[in-house]
Amino acid sequence: MDWGLENRIRRMFPAASGNSVMLAVDHGYFMGPTRRLENAKATIAPLLPHADALALTRGILRSSVPPTSTTPIVLRVSGGATILKEDLSHEDVTTSIRDAVRLNVSAVALSVFVGSPHEHESLVHLSKLIDDGEEYGMPVLAITAVGKELEKRDARYLALACRVSAELGAHLVKTYYCEGFDKVVEGCPVPIVVAGGPKLDSEKAALELAHDAIAAGARGIDMGRNIWQSEHPVAMLLALRAIVHERASVKEALEIYDGAKHRTEPVPTIAPSRRS
Ligand code: R5P
Repeated sequence: MDWGLENRIRRMFPAASGNSVMLAVDHGYFMGPTRRLENAKATIAPLLPHADALALTRGILRSSVPPTSTTPIVLRVSGGATILKEDLSHEDVTTSIRDAVRLNVSAVALSVFVGSPHEHESLVHLSKLIDDGEEYGMPVLAITAVGKELEKRDARYLALACRVSAELGAHLVKTYYCEGFDKVVEGCPVPIVVAGGPKLDSEKAALELAHDAIAAGARGIDMGRNIWQSEHPVAMLLALRAIVHERASVKEALEIYDGAKHRTEPVPTIAPSRRS
Protein backbone atom coordinates (compact mmCIF):
# COMPACT_ATOMS: atom_id res chain seq x y z
CA MET A 1 0.00 0.00 0.00
CA ASP A 2 1.25 3.47 -0.87
CA TRP A 3 2.74 5.35 2.10
CA GLY A 4 0.34 8.28 1.94
CA LEU A 5 -2.71 6.06 1.65
CA GLU A 6 -1.63 3.86 4.56
CA ASN A 7 -0.69 6.89 6.67
CA ARG A 8 -4.15 8.37 6.17
CA ILE A 9 -5.79 5.09 7.24
CA ARG A 10 -3.53 4.64 10.27
CA ARG A 11 -4.36 8.10 11.56
CA MET A 12 -8.04 7.12 11.72
CA PHE A 13 -7.31 3.80 13.48
CA PRO A 14 -5.09 4.62 16.49
CA ALA A 15 -2.39 2.03 17.02
CA ALA A 16 -3.24 1.13 20.62
CA SER A 17 -6.33 -0.84 19.63
CA GLY A 18 -6.19 -0.62 15.84
CA ASN A 19 -9.89 0.28 15.93
CA SER A 20 -11.68 3.56 15.24
CA VAL A 21 -14.51 5.62 16.70
CA MET A 22 -15.79 7.74 13.82
CA LEU A 23 -18.44 10.36 14.49
CA ALA A 24 -20.96 10.64 11.63
CA VAL A 25 -22.53 14.05 11.02
CA ASP A 26 -23.13 13.81 7.26
CA HIS A 27 -26.89 13.21 7.47
CA GLY A 28 -27.88 16.65 6.22
CA TYR A 29 -26.68 15.84 2.70
CA PHE A 30 -29.99 14.08 2.04
CA MET A 31 -32.02 14.57 5.25
CA GLY A 32 -31.62 18.32 5.74
CA PRO A 33 -31.48 19.73 9.29
CA THR A 34 -31.98 16.48 11.19
CA ARG A 35 -33.01 16.66 14.86
CA ARG A 36 -30.07 17.70 17.07
CA LEU A 37 -27.94 18.39 13.98
CA GLU A 38 -29.77 21.60 13.05
CA ASN A 39 -26.75 23.59 14.24
CA ALA A 40 -23.95 21.28 13.18
CA LYS A 41 -21.22 23.48 14.63
CA ALA A 42 -22.77 23.35 18.10
CA THR A 43 -23.34 19.59 17.90
CA ILE A 44 -19.82 18.84 16.70
CA ALA A 45 -17.79 21.09 19.07
CA PRO A 46 -18.04 19.12 22.35
CA LEU A 47 -17.73 15.75 20.58
CA LEU A 48 -14.78 16.51 18.31
CA PRO A 49 -12.01 15.95 20.90
CA HIS A 50 -13.34 12.43 21.56
CA ALA A 51 -13.65 11.20 17.96
CA ASP A 52 -10.92 9.37 16.03
CA ALA A 53 -12.42 10.70 12.80
CA LEU A 54 -15.30 12.91 11.74
CA ALA A 55 -17.55 11.94 8.79
CA LEU A 56 -19.23 14.86 7.01
CA THR A 57 -19.65 16.86 3.81
CA ARG A 58 -17.41 19.68 2.60
CA GLY A 59 -20.13 22.25 3.36
CA ILE A 60 -20.28 21.34 7.03
CA LEU A 61 -16.51 20.92 7.22
CA ARG A 62 -15.86 24.42 5.91
CA SER A 63 -18.63 26.07 7.91
CA SER A 64 -18.64 24.17 11.18
CA VAL A 65 -15.23 22.67 12.01
CA PRO A 66 -12.33 24.90 13.07
CA PRO A 67 -9.30 24.55 10.75
CA THR A 68 -7.21 24.18 13.94
CA SER A 69 -8.74 20.72 14.39
CA THR A 70 -6.39 17.77 13.95
CA THR A 71 -9.16 15.16 13.89
CA PRO A 72 -9.00 13.11 10.66
CA ILE A 73 -11.85 13.84 8.26
CA VAL A 74 -13.86 11.30 6.26
CA LEU A 75 -15.38 13.40 3.51
CA ARG A 76 -18.68 12.31 1.98
CA VAL A 77 -18.37 12.89 -1.76
CA SER A 78 -21.63 11.37 -3.02
CA GLY A 79 -25.09 12.91 -3.11
CA GLY A 80 -27.79 14.17 -5.43
CA ALA A 81 -30.99 12.81 -3.86
CA THR A 82 -33.07 13.88 -0.87
CA ILE A 83 -35.69 12.29 1.35
CA LEU A 84 -38.35 13.96 -0.83
CA LYS A 85 -37.63 11.43 -3.57
CA GLU A 86 -38.71 7.81 -3.54
CA ASP A 87 -35.42 6.66 -5.02
CA LEU A 88 -32.50 7.65 -2.81
CA SER A 89 -30.10 5.63 -4.92
CA HIS A 90 -29.91 8.27 -7.67
CA GLU A 91 -26.55 9.67 -6.54
CA ASP A 92 -23.43 10.86 -8.27
CA VAL A 93 -19.99 11.97 -7.13
CA THR A 94 -20.58 15.51 -5.86
CA THR A 95 -17.10 16.51 -4.67
CA SER A 96 -13.88 16.19 -6.65
CA ILE A 97 -10.81 14.38 -5.38
CA ARG A 98 -8.93 17.67 -5.86
CA ASP A 99 -11.22 19.38 -3.37
CA ALA A 100 -10.78 16.45 -0.97
CA VAL A 101 -6.99 16.89 -1.18
CA ARG A 102 -7.37 20.67 -0.80
CA LEU A 103 -9.36 20.03 2.39
CA ASN A 104 -6.59 17.76 3.67
CA VAL A 105 -9.00 14.93 4.47
CA SER A 106 -8.05 11.40 5.50
CA ALA A 107 -10.59 9.51 3.37
CA VAL A 108 -13.46 10.02 0.96
CA ALA A 109 -16.79 8.22 1.33
CA LEU A 110 -19.46 7.29 -1.18
CA SER A 111 -22.72 5.35 -0.91
CA VAL A 112 -23.32 2.22 -2.92
CA PHE A 113 -26.87 1.01 -3.47
CA VAL A 114 -26.67 -2.71 -4.12
CA GLY A 115 -30.02 -4.04 -5.33
CA SER A 116 -31.46 -0.57 -5.98
CA PRO A 117 -32.53 1.05 -9.27
CA HIS A 118 -29.18 2.83 -9.52
CA GLU A 119 -27.03 -0.07 -8.37
CA HIS A 120 -24.95 -0.04 -11.55
CA GLU A 121 -24.15 3.70 -11.48
CA SER A 122 -23.25 3.67 -7.77
CA LEU A 123 -20.84 0.78 -8.24
CA VAL A 124 -19.22 2.42 -11.26
CA HIS A 125 -18.93 5.68 -9.30
CA LEU A 126 -17.21 3.75 -6.52
CA SER A 127 -14.74 2.18 -8.95
CA LYS A 128 -13.87 5.52 -10.53
CA LEU A 129 -13.47 7.16 -7.14
CA ILE A 130 -11.09 4.38 -6.13
CA ASP A 131 -9.04 4.98 -9.30
CA ASP A 132 -8.79 8.65 -8.31
CA GLY A 133 -8.10 7.74 -4.70
CA GLU A 134 -5.23 5.44 -5.61
CA GLU A 135 -3.72 8.19 -7.73
CA TYR A 136 -3.78 10.68 -4.85
CA GLY A 137 -3.12 8.30 -1.95
CA MET A 138 -6.66 8.85 -0.70
CA PRO A 139 -8.52 5.95 0.97
CA VAL A 140 -12.10 5.31 -0.15
CA LEU A 141 -14.79 4.22 2.28
CA ALA A 142 -17.81 2.55 0.67
CA ILE A 143 -21.08 3.10 2.52
CA THR A 144 -23.58 0.30 2.07
CA ALA A 145 -27.32 0.21 2.65
CA VAL A 146 -28.25 3.81 3.37
CA GLY A 147 -31.90 4.91 3.58
CA LYS A 148 -34.50 2.51 2.24
CA GLU A 149 -31.85 -0.18 1.76
CA LEU A 150 -31.86 -0.44 5.55
CA GLU A 151 -34.93 -2.63 5.25
CA LYS A 152 -32.77 -5.27 3.59
CA ARG A 153 -30.09 -5.42 6.22
CA ASP A 154 -29.75 -9.14 6.80
CA ALA A 155 -26.38 -10.86 6.78
CA ARG A 156 -26.80 -12.20 3.25
CA TYR A 157 -27.52 -8.78 1.77
CA LEU A 158 -24.88 -6.91 3.78
CA ALA A 159 -22.23 -9.56 3.05
CA LEU A 160 -22.97 -9.13 -0.66
CA ALA A 161 -22.83 -5.33 -0.53
CA CYS A 162 -19.62 -5.26 1.55
CA ARG A 163 -17.86 -7.90 -0.54
CA VAL A 164 -18.75 -6.22 -3.83
CA SER A 165 -17.40 -2.91 -2.46
CA ALA A 166 -14.16 -4.56 -1.38
CA GLU A 167 -13.80 -6.39 -4.70
CA LEU A 168 -14.04 -3.06 -6.53
CA GLY A 169 -11.17 -1.82 -4.36
CA ALA A 170 -12.74 0.05 -1.43
CA HIS A 171 -10.15 0.42 1.33
CA LEU A 172 -12.78 0.58 4.08
CA VAL A 173 -16.47 -0.30 4.28
CA LYS A 174 -19.25 1.12 6.41
CA THR A 175 -22.30 -1.03 6.92
CA TYR A 176 -24.99 -1.89 9.47
CA TYR A 177 -24.90 -4.47 12.23
CA CYS A 178 -27.15 -7.50 11.82
CA GLU A 179 -27.63 -10.97 13.20
CA GLY A 180 -24.87 -13.21 11.87
CA PHE A 181 -22.55 -10.22 11.43
CA ASP A 182 -19.47 -12.44 11.71
CA LYS A 183 -20.38 -13.77 8.25
CA VAL A 184 -20.37 -10.22 6.87
CA VAL A 185 -16.91 -9.64 8.37
CA GLU A 186 -15.62 -13.01 7.20
CA GLY A 187 -16.53 -12.26 3.60
CA CYS A 188 -15.05 -8.77 3.53
CA PRO A 189 -11.25 -8.55 3.21
CA VAL A 190 -11.03 -4.88 4.30
CA PRO A 191 -11.90 -3.24 7.65
CA ILE A 192 -15.60 -2.73 8.38
CA VAL A 193 -17.01 0.03 10.59
CA VAL A 194 -20.66 -0.04 11.63
CA ALA A 195 -23.25 2.72 11.52
CA GLY A 196 -25.88 2.95 14.23
CA GLY A 197 -28.98 3.72 12.19
CA PRO A 198 -31.97 5.62 13.62
CA LYS A 199 -31.92 6.40 17.35
CA LEU A 200 -32.60 3.24 19.33
CA ASP A 201 -34.91 3.09 22.35
CA SER A 202 -32.08 3.30 24.87
CA GLU A 203 -28.38 4.03 25.20
CA LYS A 204 -27.98 0.44 26.37
CA ALA A 205 -29.34 -0.85 23.06
CA ALA A 206 -26.84 1.27 21.09
CA LEU A 207 -23.96 0.14 23.32
CA GLU A 208 -25.03 -3.48 22.81
CA LEU A 209 -25.03 -2.96 19.06
CA ALA A 210 -21.49 -1.56 19.14
CA HIS A 211 -20.33 -4.27 21.52
CA ASP A 212 -21.73 -7.10 19.41
CA ALA A 213 -20.32 -5.60 16.21
CA ILE A 214 -16.81 -5.34 17.68
CA ALA A 215 -17.08 -8.85 19.11
CA ALA A 216 -18.00 -10.11 15.63
CA GLY A 217 -14.93 -8.48 14.08
CA ALA A 218 -15.90 -4.91 13.15
CA ARG A 219 -12.90 -2.56 13.32
CA GLY A 220 -14.90 0.31 14.71
CA ILE A 221 -18.03 2.38 14.49
CA ASP A 222 -19.09 5.29 12.31
CA MET A 223 -22.09 6.37 14.34
CA GLY A 224 -24.26 9.47 14.41
CA ARG A 225 -27.83 9.63 15.70
CA ASN A 226 -27.30 7.27 18.64
CA ILE A 227 -24.62 9.68 19.85
CA TRP A 228 -25.85 13.20 19.17
CA GLN A 229 -29.55 12.41 19.65
CA SER A 230 -28.69 10.91 23.05
CA GLU A 231 -29.56 13.07 26.06
CA HIS A 232 -25.84 13.02 26.91
CA PRO A 233 -23.82 12.89 23.66
CA VAL A 234 -20.33 13.23 25.19
CA ALA A 235 -21.04 10.54 27.78
CA MET A 236 -22.34 8.28 25.01
CA LEU A 237 -19.23 8.82 22.93
CA LEU A 238 -16.96 8.07 25.88
CA ALA A 239 -18.88 4.86 26.60
CA LEU A 240 -18.59 3.80 22.96
CA ARG A 241 -14.85 4.52 23.03
CA ALA A 242 -14.46 2.09 25.93
CA ILE A 243 -16.18 -0.64 23.91
CA VAL A 244 -14.27 -0.01 20.68
CA HIS A 245 -10.81 0.62 22.12
CA GLU A 246 -10.80 -1.27 25.41
CA ARG A 247 -13.31 -3.98 24.64
CA ALA A 248 -15.39 -2.93 27.63
CA SER A 249 -18.52 -4.92 28.38
CA VAL A 250 -21.92 -3.26 27.95
CA LYS A 251 -22.20 -3.06 31.76
CA GLU A 252 -18.83 -1.30 32.02
CA ALA A 253 -19.73 1.04 29.18
CA LEU A 254 -23.05 1.91 30.85
CA GLU A 255 -21.16 2.74 34.04
CA ILE A 256 -18.94 5.08 32.02
CA TYR A 257 -22.04 6.65 30.45
CA ASP A 258 -23.71 7.13 33.83
CA GLY A 259 -20.52 8.53 35.35
CA ALA A 260 -19.97 11.01 32.53
CA LYS A 261 -23.62 12.08 32.12
CA HIS A 262 -23.38 15.06 34.36
CA ARG A 263 -19.86 16.18 33.51
CA THR A 264 -19.86 19.93 33.63
CA GLU A 265 -16.22 20.73 32.95
CA PRO A 266 -15.64 22.37 29.59
CA VAL A 267 -14.46 20.00 26.88
CA PRO A 268 -11.43 21.37 24.97
CA THR A 269 -12.11 22.06 21.32
CA ILE A 270 -8.46 22.50 20.36
CA ALA A 271 -5.43 20.33 21.04
CA PRO A 272 -4.21 20.90 24.64
CA SER A 273 -0.72 21.84 23.40
CA ARG A 274 -2.20 24.75 21.49
CA ARG A 275 -4.03 26.20 24.46
CA SER A 276 -2.45 29.18 26.16
C1 R5P B 1 -26.04 8.36 6.30
O1 R5P B 1 -26.61 9.42 6.35
C2 R5P B 1 -24.66 8.29 6.65
O2 R5P B 1 -23.87 7.40 5.98
C3 R5P B 1 -24.44 8.16 8.14
O3 R5P B 1 -23.14 8.59 8.35
C4 R5P B 1 -24.56 6.76 8.69
O4 R5P B 1 -25.84 6.26 8.51
C5 R5P B 1 -24.14 6.72 10.16
O5 R5P B 1 -24.99 7.48 10.95
P1 R5P B 1 -26.07 6.79 11.89
O6 R5P B 1 -25.30 6.10 12.98
O7 R5P B 1 -26.89 7.92 12.40
O8 R5P B 1 -26.84 5.82 11.07
